[in-house]
Amino acid sequence: MTQRIVVLLSGRGSNFQSLLNASLTDQLGGSIDLVISNRPGAGGLAIANSAGIDTALVDHQAYTTRDAFDADLAGVINSVSPDLIVLAGFMRILTLPFVSQFAGRLLNIHPSLLPLYPGLNTHQRALDNGDTHAGATVHYVTGELDGGPSVIQAKVPIESGDTKEQLAARILHVEHQIYPKAVNWHLTGRLALQDGVLYKDAVPLPATGEIWQDRQ
Ligand code: GRF
Repeated sequence: MTQRIVVLLSGRGSNFQSLLNASLTDQLGGSIDLVISNRPGAGGLAIANSAGIDTALVDHQAYTTRDAFDADLAGVINSVSPDLIVLAGFMRILTLPFVSQFAGRLLNIHPSLLPLYPGLNTHQRALDNGDTHAGATVHYVTGELDGGPSVIQAKVPIESGDTKEQLAARILHVEHQIYPKAVNWHLTGRLALQDGVLYKDAVPLPATGEIWQDRQ
């Protein structure tokens, strides 16, 4: 049976687009059945609409508490019984009850070489620290912000004189390569989490997750 994916997003949706492209060429291991946004104007909703994918809006501004928002969000997600929930630029911190409910089937992509720079403003922080490299990480979501087990990580160089926009664009390019891979690995049963250690094809992954090489 086809595996079912729900995508959560808040913005332009370029990672969602890369997942959609992979699904259209049968490289994702499942179908994107629903896209949920917490913002009415999110570009990702328009992408979903043009592709004929169901959308839902759970507008966080209509809620006074995180718990109430997360409870409704979980309800909408559960209405399609997904095998995997993919956070693709979903700009909300999720509560522990929400994360626990979907433990092991909740993936996120973060624009840094985790564990470096959890949270916001990652590109500027890497530049300010004079780092030589930056990148992106796909990880399972746990109660710790941007702290769950890493599946795959891609590194890019920081060039001298880079602005945060230039660096963000370079990283976004690799985000689009690694996210579909991580989703595919999950949906095809190649990943397993045991006692806090993530295995791919029964081999323990390093703390960074698999290191992505451009040739893959
Ligand atoms: C990406 O940089 C992703 O790493 C972060 O939010 C951004 C979303 O971009 N979590 P997009 O909406 O997928 O274009």
